[in-house]
Amino acid sequence: MTASHQLRIVRIGLAGLGNIGLGVYKNLEKNGGLLRERTGFDLKITRIAVRDPDKKREIPPGGARSTGDWRELVADPQLDIIVELIGGTTEAFDLVCAALRAKKPVVTGNKALLAERGPELFRLAEENHVPIYFEAAVAGGIPIIQTLQEGFVGNHIRSIHGIINGTCNYILTRMSAEGVSYQAALADAQRLGFAEADPTLDVSGWDAAHKAIILASLSYGFWVKPEDTFVQGIEQVSQTDIRFAAQLGYTIKLLSVIRADEKGRVEVRTQPSLVPQGHVLASIGGAFNAVLVHGDIVGETLFYGKGAGQDPTSSSVISDIAEAAATLHYGSRHSGFVPHGLYGKSKPVDETISNFYVRLTVADKPGVLARVAAVFGESGIGISSVIQPDEPDARITPLIFMLDAATLRDVRAAMKAVAALDCVREEPSWLRVETMSEPQG
Ligand SMILES: NC(=O)c1ccc[n+]([C@@H]2O[C@H](COP(=O)([O-])OP(=O)(O)OC[C@H]3O[C@@H](n4cnc5c(N)ncnc54)[C@H](OP(=O)(O)O)[C@@H]3O)[C@@H](O)[C@H]2O)c1
Repeated sequence: MTASHQLRIVRIGLAGLGNIGLGVYKNLEKNGGLLRERTGFDLKITRIAVRDPDKKREIPPGGARSTGDWRELVADPQLDIIVELIGGTTEAFDLVCAALRAKKPVVTGNKALLAERGPELFRLAEENHVPIYFEAAVAGGIPIIQTLQEGFVGNHIRSIHGIINGTCNYILTRMSAEGVSYQAALADAQRLGFAEADPTLDVSGWDAAHKAIILASLSYGFWVKPEDTFVQGIEQVSQTDIRFAAQLGYTIKLLSVIRADEKGRVEVRTQPSLVPQGHVLASIGGAFNAVLVHGDIVGETLFYGKGAGQDPTSSSVISDIAEAAATLHYGSRHSGFVPHGLYGKSKPVDETISNFYVRLTVADKPGVLARVAAVFGESGIGISSVIQPDEPDARITPLIFMLDAATLRDVRAAMKAVAALDCVREEPSWLRVETMSEPQG
């Protein structure tokens, strides 16, 4: 801090002192001196709102006053910035709206709120000339939001491939590295604090889908609707598919794929996918996140780090607080989301194109292969290879087809017809194969 700079005090109202709120509080205390030197602002949490102000906390709120009512924060004329870390989409929505109407910049890590109600919130931010910051909402400590908004402002985004849910990546990594079942890996994730007691939002794919909606919306300048995205969770991924995928040279990852086709239509989908073992995303293990962004000028770039947890996530929240403080003093360029009309349309999910892996359990008799192949042929879907892998259980005859690129519509219809064949014994398992190539169709 040079003598010519005057230290400015910025007062922060923190709503939520749970896992992330506590991290923000502790780390602002820890690195407050560094932040003062770097930014010229003394960033002080002076009021905190929690659900239960009488609850015993790991650290006492010190000089900050606590309340059980977040409205007191919003109404407090002394507070410059509101940080929303209460989670959920109902009260958090009211809180963010009230803060924007009170002309206070908002920092939030709430991906569900932004994915579901982003357009309303950014419209309100625009009307009130106050920004919303949300770096912590996607990929925890990885500064991917700022990268898309600023670092890549001069790029058309060709595609984004992301492993953006640490819980699912932990479970799938354990299943492939150690051969444990989905249930056992999930139980370990819960014991180690990587998964919530109710893991539905994570394992259903929706947590990653919320983040993908935010990344896609920022990349393509229109807010993508949740109903226009394809979402499939990891609950159905079997040990058998992980094993066969490995024999074929692939690793199964919960992958979010965002890309525009040549007509400018944007596809946003999250699903367990086969990724070539040699590709860098196949090597992302445990609870880590990685986001691969392909810009037309910059080419391929990769961002890797911890996608959740107290310290990494609070690092992003603190960065947003510092940015909000600078905005208060030097003015803002935008409200957090800049809509434009260069893209503007979601690609219908049925028209999205991928290669596919199909695993069938079939009757061990002649002619089966030809009958299944005929169904794919009638649907206009090419078969790139057929494999009958070794199966220790002699009662089961697995048959694996690797399909050429086809639309989801065609593959869905073909799979319905295949499942109806009398030689097919169980419900077929089919997954997308990501070749990691440029968009097709
Ligand atoms: N956990 C992560 O790794 C992570 C990563 C990225 C983003 N996020 C996002 O960060 C947000 C917070 O997550 P978290 O894990 O910190 O949640 P959490 O541990 O459940 O903490 C929630 C906090 O909010 C308070 N709260 C809840 N409802 C409230 C209300 N109506 N009024 C005032 N306070 C209220 C709770 O008060 P009490 O303490 O009194 O119960 C608690 O302190 C969520 O939006 C989440 O999606 C989390």
